Amino acid sequence: MSYTIEPCTDRQTLVELYLGLLTHLARFDPTVTATAETAQWWVDQVFVPAASHGAPVLIARHNDGRAIGGLFWVITPTPGVKHAYGYGTYIVPEWRECGVGTALRSAAVLKLKASGVTHLIGCAHLANEPGQRSLRALDMAPYAMLYHLLL
Ligand SMILES: CC(C)(COP(=O)(O)OP(=O)(O)OC[C@H]1O[C@@H](n2cnc3c(N)ncnc32)[C@H](O)[C@@H]1OP(=O)(O)O)[C@@H](O)C(=O)NCCC(=O)NCCS
Repeated sequence: MSYTIEPCTDRQTLVELYLGLLTHLARFDPTVTATAETAQWWVDQVFVPAASHGAPVLIARHNDGRAIGGLFWVITPTPGVKHAYGYGTYIVPEWRECGVGTALRSAAVLKLKASGVTHLIGCAHLANEPGQRSLRALDMAPYAMLYHLLL
């Protein structure tokens, strides 16, 4: 394997990867704002704080030092069932379908289990076939419909 999976709190790396994800998702969802400002907000307000509390905010780093993928999952530490919510996984185009997404998600699931999380929720747009397939490959099952209303 020519990459490693590691936790990440480096702002610039996370912003770059999350902006890549937002830009990709904007093609399925007109409500996604794919700007550097939005990506920075999510990284600063959500992902870095979550990572510092043990949530799996992970990257795949190629041996040449480049970040080739990122995973953004957050833990909701409610009493009782501990949930985690997946805000997404993003692999740079030239590294897709090589198992990197699965490697990131498998590492994240192990981290969740070690943290006592018992329920993981993720979401893929209906038109995002690779996204849906990759979640099912992780043995995730569809269990609810997401409804929305544009106001
Ligand atoms: C979706 C994504 C994270 C998958 O990561 P990946 O590293 O390419 O996926 P993997 O190589 O680990 O493959 C995982 C599974 O997804 C399937 N898959 C991946 N890309 C696929 C594609 N383009 N079409 C169909 N199936 C695909 C693989 O066949 C594999 O399933 P299998 O184990 O049953 O064969 C990656 O394609 C990506 O970053 N896409 C852009 C952002 C995105 O849509 N993120 C997900 C939002 S839900």
